[in-house]
Amino acid sequence: MSSEDQPVLVFDSGIGGLTVLREARLLMPERRFVYVADDAGFPYGGWAEDALRDRIVRLFADLLRDHDPVLCIIACNTAFTLAGTALRAAYPDMPFVGTVPAIKPAAERTRSGQVSVLATPGTVQRDYTRDLIQSFASQCHVNLVGSPRLARMAEAYVRGLPVSDEAVAAEIAPCFVDVGGARTDIVVLGCTHYPFIANVFRRLAPWPVDWLDPAEAIARRARSLLPRLADALHPAEDDTARLTSGQPDFATRRLMNSFGLKVA
Ligand code: DGL
Repeated sequence: MSSEDQPVLVFDSGIGGLTVLREARLLMPERRFVYVADDAGFPYGGWAEDALRDRIVRLFADLLRDHDPVLCIIACNTAFTLAGTALRAAYPDMPFVGTVPAIKPAAERTRSGQVSVLATPGTVQRDYTRDLIQSFASQCHVNLVGSPRLARMAEAYVRGLPVSDEAVAAEIAPCFVDVGGARTDIVVLGCTHYPFIANVFRRLAPWPVDWLDPAEAIARRARSLLPRLADALHPAEDDTARLTSGQPDFATRRLMNSFGLKVA
């Protein structure tokens, strides 16, 4: 396969990476995409670190062999903050574009100095996340909120299943702090699943904040690493989805199809 025919592989534990795929397609309409959801391992948020890192590194041996991608986007904070370094070490010839909580842009934009990071329990515990805060946000107060339930709720919401307002409100409530009148003004969406349900967050928020979604920045980074191809070589119908369970249900197939992905 010439490098022009090699796909861009977008990886997540579930549907969250579709928020990044959407942006990546806008910026690279000439590229073919393979979307991989490790739904057999979902949710990643509660996994023990060593076991999850090993799983992801092993999985990529198969993915790189089967799909021969030109570049991989790890569209999952929980996966990349844990396994990014190990993936790059194991597959040094493969460019990996990662996803990490957008703490740096949040620290640059906040006016109140109160920033919250809403993510999975795994992501908020990572050394990677703590290092980002130390390096880029030491002048702010960063409130880490690990939600054990929101990724599942987003999966349900996108499939049209009922998700109660009370349950969502309870998960986002710790993001809102008021310290002597200095109120949270930015919430970093530190899990790629959350943009799908961010309109519900907006509706239920106790006061308006900026919800920072890094999808476009990730897509821009990927674009910058790949040459622009002259022609639209690959129509969207060529894009495929692979689910590690091997047996996606009807709702999942329909969702993937609605993103123009054929389930392989
Ligand atoms: N979408 C993933 C992320 O960005 C996490 C979802 C999960 O818990 O598997 O962190």
